[in-house]
Amino acid sequence: ASRTELAGKKVLITAGGTVERLDPVRYLTNDSSGKMGFALAEAAANRGADVTVIAARTTAAPIGGVELVRAESAEEMLQAVLARYESADLVIKAAAVADYRPVSQAPSKIKKSDERLVVELERTTDILKTLGERKTHQFLVGFAAETENVASYAMDKLARKHCDLVVANDVSQEGAGFNADTNVVQVFGPEGLVEALPQLPKREVAERLLARIAERMNADTAP
Ligand code: PMT
Repeated sequence: ASRTELAGKKVLITAGGTVERLDPVRYLTNDSSGKMGFALAEAAANRGADVTVIAARTTAAPIGGVELVRAESAEEMLQAVLARYESADLVIKAAAVADYRPVSQAPSKIKKSDERLVVELERTTDILKTLGERKTHQFLVGFAAETENVASYAMDKLARKHCDLVVANDVSQEGAGFNADTNVVQVFGPEGLVEALPQLPKREVAERLLARIAERMNADTAP
């Protein structure tokens, strides 16, 4: 990768699975490892960008030269992203953000009884959609974790959330999506399918995605 393709650009990347607490020791989360997001952060840093990763639950190791901000829940991630959005040039939303959270969080450990326990859930804020609505100059890249109709759902997300690119992964496929070391992605732009990549290590997927993104960002700002 060129060391300067994204020089001077501020890049915000979300990674990992959010944690939505029921009580101080129990929570709802998902299988995201953060590997995809951290690979993207490394690929962006390799191109000279000033990179911040906002990470929820992840097993990925911090990357030298990349700022790491922890955000546990969808709400914390929303606040962390919004606080840095205005000055960002590129935002990539690789995190798996919970769509629902418990309506209330017990302040102390929930005691068991012989009764059934019903947990009520409410919607979280859609971070990507919020960013799309508040977009000024940022290049916005969303992910789409799908199991069917990948192309139509991805194009729908791109339009509804005002994304410049949507990276769709079919998470029902072996060697793709959550927690795997590899991914199989299709990249969509406003014009439709841009590129379908074969199964590749997440690092390589990240390199190819950042090359595409840099190409489009630099084309947008060319005189
Ligand atoms: O972390 P890994 O183990 O490496 O796995 C990578 C991954 C599968 C998590 C990643 O490649 C991926 O697909 N991330 C998005 C997962 C997801 O939540 O997809 P979605 O289709 O539900 O959401 C679409 C987009 O909206 C995503 O960019 C997501 O970050 C965003 N979103 C979703 C809900 C919400 N409340 N706020 C959001 O911003």
